[in-house]
Amino acid sequence: MAGAEIASYLNALGRSLEAATPAAKAAALAGLVAPADGAAWPMPELPRRPGRAAALREAISPPRRRRTLAHAGTRNRFLLAIHHIELSAIDLAVVACLRGSGLPRAFHEDFLGIARDEARHAALLEELLAGRGIAPGDEPVHFRLWESTLACRDLGEHLVVVPRVLEARGLDVAAELLPRLHELDPDAHQVLSVIYQDEIGHVAIGTRWQQWWCVSQGREPLGHFAAVLARHFPGQHPWPTPLDLYGRRQAGFSASELELLGGGIGV
Ligand SMILES: [Fe+2]
Ligand SMILES: [Fe+2]
Repeated sequence: MAGAEIASYLNALGRSLEAATPAAKAAALAGLVAPADGAAWPMPELPRRPGRAAALREAISPPRRRRTLAHAGTRNRFLLAIHHIELSAIDLAVVACLRGSGLPRAFHEDFLGIARDEARHAALLEELLAGRGIAPGDEPVHFRLWESTLACRDLGEHLVVVPRVLEARGLDVAAELLPRLHELDPDAHQVLSVIYQDEIGHVAIGTRWQQWWCVSQGREPLGHFAAVLARHFPGQHPWPTPLDLYGRRQAGFSASELELLGGGIGV
């Protein structure tokens, strides 16, 4: 790939990070062609915060755990929080592409695909919430996902932290909530079911490329996974939500990894 083509690839990724809405982030990536195998560049500096609408206020207090979804107001606040998670997930997939210097084209195609899925997820939630008279910006948002990504020192850490911990935890939460949501809020259930299925694919992509990255670096994947967990999530496993063994196995988690995460006996 010629230098000009790499520059235009990096430029489009940067514009997506700066864009404020899912639609604008997706538009920056529309028609973008993944770089050739092995195309390389120096890692650009990441912004302190990705682009967001001016109306979006940053939350100061830590997020509350909202698992009592019997009240419509609580449910809608939860859906707003998921909307910002999906918006952030676009940014995180774009950062994976930026960190993918020297990787095969297939890596970039996978993560551009994730970014586009996340934009679609955010749009589905926006539409659902708009029908209820709620818009992004009605609640303050957290940037913990972005902060976790900034804390990664290389692509290998990113592949564990983002798809294999944060997105995989999303599977755990979804698996716990979806059965309850079915009766309480069928429309939300439908949207979150679509997201859940797609997210299994995202975690699987993370598993595949973490293994590829470890082989390319002469690292042993399970040891690498354990080391990144210990560095970025000390004392956080097992975490309070039960592991979604069905989804995690589909996404390529091994028995040893599930055991490491506190999946318990018989995993
Ligand atoms: Fe998503
Ligand atoms: Fe995802």
